[in-house]
Amino acid sequence: MALDIKRPNGTEDILPKDIYKWYTVEKIAREVAETYGFSEIRIPTFESTNLFQRSVGETTDVVQKEMYTVKAKESEFTLRPEGTAGTIRALLQNGLLNEALPQRVFYMLSCFRHERPQAGRLREFHQFGLEMAGSASPSADAEVISLAKSILDKLEIKNIELYINSIGCPVCRAKYHEALRNYFESRKDDLCDTCKDRLVKNPMRILDCKSEICQEIGKDAPIILDYLCDECSNHFETLKKYLTSMEIEYKVNPRIVRGLDYYTKTVFEFVTTEIGAQGTVCGGGRYDGLIEQLGGQKIPALGFAMGIERLLIVMDKQNCDYIQPKTCDVYFATMGDDALNQAMILSQQLRKDGIVAEFDVMGRGIKAQMKYANKIGALFTIVIGDNELENNIVKVKDMETGAETSICINDKFKNSFTDIYLDKVLNKMDEDDNSDLLFSFLGGEDNG
Ligand code: HAM
Repeated sequence: MALDIKRPNGTEDILPKDIYKWYTVEKIAREVAETYGFSEIRIPTFESTNLFQRSVGETTDVVQKEMYTVKAKESEFTLRPEGTAGTIRALLQNGLLNEALPQRVFYMLSCFRHERPQAGRLREFHQFGLEMAGSASPSADAEVISLAKSILDKLEIKNIELYINSIGCPVCRAKYHEALRNYFESRKDDLCDTCKDRLVKNPMRILDCKSEICQEIGKDAPIILDYLCDECSNHFETLKKYLTSMEIEYKVNPRIVRGLDYYTKTVFEFVTTEIGAQGTVCGGGRYDGLIEQLGGQKIPALGFAMGIERLLIVMDKQNCDYIQPKTCDVYFATMGDDALNQAMILSQQLRKDGIVAEFDVMGRGIKAQMKYANKIGALFTIVIGDNELENNIVKVKDMETGAETSICINDKFKNSFTDIYLDKVLNKMDEDDNSDLLFSFLGGEDNG
């Protein structure tokens, strides 16, 4: 039967067979962020529309063309197109910016932008991002960039370039806008309609327009680096010095202006050429005016966000290692109700130690149960029938080698099984040099 309701264009289902890839990125990103002193924050999926208008900016593509906005009774809300605005709103609303600074928070969230879908560009996508509020020092810029790089390195992503730029502060921006207006004025009629308007309100946005003609016209536009004031210039030079001393390779790319209005001074992107046009896997920068703009104190801040889908496209392409998914450790094949009941009890015991145990809930015959155990890749099977119940002894079968070991169903059952299981897991680790199997047994650090 044909399904007549499909998922919306530009969205994806993340299926159980792929979820371990997401766990890998989330686990590594979280762990690295925590080593830099960041803690997780969770914010609402939707916010008042004017939060994004006032932060992301009225003249950006995101606000002008891409927001999912709904009217609910008298209010207007928008599905978050990014995580920074909501995070800063939450820091402000909950008084966290009155506490010890810097505040360092990270988030993993879905974002919504009504863009034209293509590989690596979705309408619902996911970001790992973070924000640090309180420091005006370029050392904070270096810290945040080094954090992003550590995540990419830990994920073993290769062939990725770091581009940095400075887009100045309102002081140098005013002079730069003037230069841009002069430059674009002569080609004004060729610009797209949105950019004609931007020429008056915010000419720097023309450099970020997705229209080919605007991009072509913008190619020889003046660059902001030539207009930086002394303070912004010194900030940028010091950042470069820090990056060099931390052995973080970078290229200055004066064409990076970012697509969101809140940025000041440092902006950066990590870009790969391996996945086509949507190669920016991480983007971020400093936004020293945003907190004040949203009604808070004059507190400088900065951050970045990585697109998780894009990271996974690169990781798949580069055959990066993922933390292996948990699969069935032991499958109990049962004959009759009493055997099923016993399998339930034994499964419960093993699961307390993080062992993945399954038994038949489909009422299948023993042959079909074994076939199923094979299909799901069970490491061991244990058959329980009348004989086993009578003697309180079961055979643990290693599905790979066929070897069988008898163990008693008594209060030592869990220990006996665990011995056999650990033996197998450690042997496998030796063979595969794959410590993730042990990770899977220990259920991560929590049960370690
Ligand atoms: P952004 O550059 O708009 O920055 O997005 C960050 C990352 O999200 C991009 O580099 C990309 O990997 C991913 N991304 C963006 N749009 C899409 C899409 N349509 N489909 C798939 N992935 C996408 C921000 O969102 C800022 N809030 C980052 C930031 C945090 N700046 C300071 N703090």
